[in-house]
Amino acid sequence: MKIAINTGGGDAPGLNAVIRAATKAALNRGWEVLGLRNGYASLYTDKPATRLTPDSVRGITMQGGTILGAANRGNPFEFPVLQADGSYTYEDRSDVVVSKLAELGVEAVVAIGGDGSMHLAHRLSEKGLKIVGVPKTIDNDLVGCDTTLGFDTACTIATEAIDRITTTAESHQRAMIVEVMGRYAGWIALHAGLASSADVILIPEIPFTLESVFKKLEQLKKQGKEHAVIVVAEGAQLKEGGHFIKGKQVGQAELLGGAAAFLEKEIMSQTGQETRSVILGHQQRGGRPSTYDRLISLRFGAEAIRAIEEGDFNKLVVMKENQLRRIPIADVAGKFKTVPTDSDTIMTARDLGICLGD
Ligand code: F6P
Repeated sequence: MKIAINTGGGDAPGLNAVIRAATKAALNRGWEVLGLRNGYASLYTDKPATRLTPDSVRGITMQGGTILGAANRGNPFEFPVLQADGSYTYEDRSDVVVSKLAELGVEAVVAIGGDGSMHLAHRLSEKGLKIVGVPKTIDNDLVGCDTTLGFDTACTIATEAIDRITTTAESHQRAMIVEVMGRYAGWIALHAGLASSADVILIPEIPFTLESVFKKLEQLKKQGKEHAVIVVAEGAQLKEGGHFIKGKQVGQAELLGGAAAFLEKEIMSQTGQETRSVILGHQQRGGRPSTYDRLISLRFGAEAIRAIEEGDFNKLVVMKENQLRRIPIADVAGKFKTVPTDSDTIMTARDLGICLGD
């Protein structure tokens, strides 16, 4: 048996642990393992893949990033081709992926990725490719699973950062706004915000009003608390507006500089409270994985190989109610798991008096 491993989309702490576990479990069965460089991109080049050996995966469990490289333009169905005038046209190169893998003798692919990668995996499986998926995204927004690899580490990094920001907020009697990742779902904001005792947590699932934030700041002042910590997901949504994504409020041409900058400006100008904002950004994706992420990643990697051995293809290996399970990739492709607004975590935030913006 010859298999290939692909790391799709943005990186996340734990990817290397999956690569190591899947490679070792496969090699121990006498299989051959190829690693695709920078997503499926290497398949369009004359160096289509790299052979993974015990040496190439030694000591990587604790390393951040992916030793295989991540794809920046990794969609083979819309492969960007640079034109002479600097613009791009998009070609469907999915047949190249399928035929090149067949040419290499690859019988199955372990595809590690988030919603975008699972959507691709599903479309490639419809073209005959045998795939087993592994759920990866710091955003934790993949449906069908309790948690994705990278999420725990991202929350830990965000919590530590907010803790530090809290002590400086207190010293200067400021409102500090911390923007965390999460384009469509507020998992990181909610979990890290709760863990670091934030005063306000704003997530895409609960559209917020500025009035509710101002009211909370006022209330804190009345209680003698001169500082405040506001955690906001990058995709937080104003009740009257749209999502904040990559600095733009959807539906408006005006560049607002993202959720944190918007809130900073509004709080300063409308309440007079001294305010600063911080965007945590990609540090939430970098560096060493937590113990939990290492462990689930190793378990996912080994389980993916067991699925291939059993011929259980086009499945996503997931953690559900603390058990490893396999669910059809077709069931998760193109969907997002948002925070249920009636979850106990949301209720806990409310019970603790945290303002959720509504
Ligand atoms: O999907 C994970 C994520 O970290 C998002 O929260 C974020 O918006 C995005 O990736 C940023 O990715 P990049 O800058 O690599 O395009």
